Amino acid sequence: LAGYLSAGDAAPAVAVPTAAALKLTILYGSESGNSEKLADLSAKEAKKRGFIPTVKNMADIKPADLTKIENLLVIISTWGDGEPPETATSFYKAFMSETLSLPKLRFSVCSLGDTSYEKFCQMGKDFDARLEAFGAQRIYARVDCDLQYEKPHRAWLDGALAAFGPAPAPAAAPALTSFAIPVATEHDKANPFAAELKERVLLNGKGTAKETWHYELSLEGSGLTYEPGDSLGVIPVNAPDVVEGLMKAAKLTGSETVQVPDVGAKALNYALQENLDITALSRPVLTKLHEVTKSKKLATLLGEASKEKLKDYLHGRWIVDAIEDFAPKGLSPEALVSILRPLPPRLYSIASSPLAHPDEVHLTIASVRYESVGRQRKGVTSTYLADLVKLGDKVPVYTNQNKNFRLPDSGDTPIIMVGPGTGVAPFRAFVEHRAALEQKGKSWLFFGDQRYTYDFLYQTEWQDHLASKSLTKLDVAFSRDQPEKIYVQQRMIERAKELYAWLEEGAHFYVCGDATRMAHDVNEALISVVEKQGGKSREAAESYLEDLKKARRYQRDVY
Ligand code: 2AM
Repeated sequence: LAGYLSAGDAAPAVAVPTAAALKLTILYGSESGNSEKLADLSAKEAKKRGFIPTVKNMADIKPADLTKIENLLVIISTWGDGEPPETATSFYKAFMSETLSLPKLRFSVCSLGDTSYEKFCQMGKDFDARLEAFGAQRIYARVDCDLQYEKPHRAWLDGALAAFGPAPAPAAAPALTSFAIPVATEHDKANPFAAELKERVLLNGKGTAKETWHYELSLEGSGLTYEPGDSLGVIPVNAPDVVEGLMKAAKLTGSETVQVPDVGAKALNYALQENLDITALSRPVLTKLHEVTKSKKLATLLGEASKEKLKDYLHGRWIVDAIEDFAPKGLSPEALVSILRPLPPRLYSIASSPLAHPDEVHLTIASVRYESVGRQRKGVTSTYLADLVKLGDKVPVYTNQNKNFRLPDSGDTPIIMVGPGTGVAPFRAFVEHRAALEQKGKSWLFFGDQRYTYDFLYQTEWQDHLASKSLTKLDVAFSRDQPEKIYVQQRMIERAKELYAWLEEGAHFYVCGDATRMAHDVNEALISVVEKQGGKSREAAESYLEDLKKARRYQRDVY
């Protein structure tokens, strides 16, 4: 299924130690919490099998610490364009630049990623290769997991633990699969809660291209809890017109019965609507399409010589385009299903405090709609919520912890929040939460969007919070209200003196929103603020920010 054993990584034959109980370190690097969850799960299973596991976050150790370890499992996610998780960045950089000798270390790597990105699972690949280069022994082949990582992880863990040696199984050790059985009362990804949509408000005024919705869902009776900073997983269905378009391209009717992995026999149109990712085009999808079509044109595109061409081709296209281009006569129902991965849920930063809105969860979501390569496109989950779900309907959801995006422990600590566009969502939760707890710490929000008149998300709420002193300062940047663009980072520069003073007082600094440019530009602005106000070199300013990150005072939730 969605797990790829790396070619040529077959586990070498190893002398198996006979120690009664093996110490095992499980090292993770996590952005949204998935690797961390898998690390905890792996530790539980290892313990059941008689290992003595220790779970370590890359944020808390140095590469040299690995010299003291003999048995290691690495679980690492890859972010965006082949980046490490924020909290693992220092460790990763040091690990890739330092030289270590690890002849005693035995290891295996599980990497999490998303096949729709070019540098799929790059972090896992880097760790795997580097550990080997340091003389460590790969005891079990790396697994590269796509978004549906549960099964491949479980298979990897099973194999890796067995490879580490005969840690004595305690009497009647439960089967490995046992931990995947959902407990009926606990809702999670595998067993989501059907949350009623209670409210939906368009946050933009009429007359703008932007379409940002505020959603309120009921968690009543779910037992689900969350904290500000956490995200909500939403399990969407594909839009009927997109399903129709795909079936038309494949020359199928939809009434064909197909076998859907992990689901069973089902009518094709329902499988396409409910179970399969029918839009996201990637190299693995094209590779599978080539397997079933043997298209020469496609083989050329996938060949070594066409790397740039492939990148161009993938940009702005969907699976339907590839079927039209490379399977003009259509596909059999089985062939169509074989090229599609499971439909992934989508995580959204929660926009509400559970104290301000008991039994509810709020989201701030921009509907993704655009045209490209001659076709109208839309985001699966954002338009599922905007177009397909009606008030009173139930939406399958689960909560997802994000320990890397948290209010300070003390309510007196100042907070600085930078959240343009929908990036403002978690800060609505932060400010509401502190207000509900009557915490007195100062707070400062930088918000930006295109136009003041149409796009000032939650404007009246911010004004109320300012009036009640739940929010101390608000700076806004409306990018398209004047000929030249003005962005949040420009406001930060204008307020450099005060911003630096807040940091020196111990403020926590948060960024949420666009990862491709905004988060980078905000980081640059922050470096320049620290350079100028602190009278530091660029290097010293960068290390000042590194220290903030280590102290968990600089946190990002970017996507
Ligand atoms: P723009 O669309 O006018 O370019 C929320 O989307 C806001 O973030 C918009 O005002 C958008 O401006 C702005 N934005 C776009 N790129 C940005 C960047 N690199 N840094 C900060 N804000 C950015």
